Amino acid sequence: MIAQLEATTVSKVQLEASEDELKKVNAEMLWEISQRERAQQQTTSALREKEVLLREIHHRVKDNLAIISSLLDLQMVQIKDAEALSLFKTTQGRVRSIALIHEHLYKSRDLGRVDFNEYLQTLLSQLLHSYVVDPDLITLNTDIPEVSLNLDTAIPCCLVIQELIANALKHAFPNGRSGEIEIALDDASPNFLLVVRDNGVGLPQALDFRNTESLGLQLVTTLVDQLDGSMELRNGAGTEWRIQFSEVKQRGNGVAQHD
Ligand SMILES: Nc1ncnc2c1ncn2[C@@H]1O[C@H](COP(=O)(O)OP(=O)(O)O)[C@@H](O)[C@H]1O
Ligand SMILES: [Mg+2]
Repeated sequence: MIAQLEATTVSKVQLEASEDELKKVNAEMLWEISQRERAQQQTTSALREKEVLLREIHHRVKDNLAIISSLLDLQMVQIKDAEALSLFKTTQGRVRSIALIHEHLYKSRDLGRVDFNEYLQTLLSQLLHSYVVDPDLITLNTDIPEVSLNLDTAIPCCLVIQELIANALKHAFPNGRSGEIEIALDDASPNFLLVVRDNGVGLPQALDFRNTESLGLQLVTTLVDQLDGSMELRNGAGTEWRIQFSEVKQRGNGVAQHD
């Protein structure tokens, strides 16, 4: 009887001890959960802050490029020479195309990628406007899938398009000649094929596009190299450029690299 009583008392003591232990573990767990929640909140707010800052940077870059474009405008008012004026205008077009990328970026949900289709539509209407194209004479067709490109790919790629379209608008249809310009992007991930084609007068026979005096095509070949891409010219009924490239890989530190 005494032994039974002793056993009950011992197990009661043991029970109380393990209950105390459980309470302690529970309290520790609750503390840990609250710590984790706090850390998560801090991470979320740091990420949000980083996003706001990045958006702000893209906004400022775009604004600064707009200032450069206005400075070029002011300078152009004083230029009487038609050739010099045309060089300034071309430079301004390049600055505007980059500004447009940053404008698209700060408005977009994904701050590191450019919605290519959307960007291109704006770029093309900007180019048509600056080259004062008669829509009855020149038709522009695009065939671009829904694709987004990272910044290190998008900037060279958009500058290449800007140069080739500007060339088609400027050189392919002289003396009121009518025709078509087409841009197509074939997304066979991880490779892209960009085709820019016009049915105009074609490149001058003697011109070696990899070795020009003029800056436009030099820029195009350099940018295609930068994309680690390849470029082919088909000079038949007009001019057709076929450019193959893949997306440039970006490291965390923002430095671009290829495989
Ligand atoms: N789509 C095109 N159609 C006809 N000629 C072109 C076309 N693209 C380029 N060219 C010719 O190639 C030359 C070099 O082009 P580019 O290097 O861009 O210099 P720029 O446009 O400043 O003249 C142009 O001057 C023009 O004669
Ligand atoms: Mg040019």
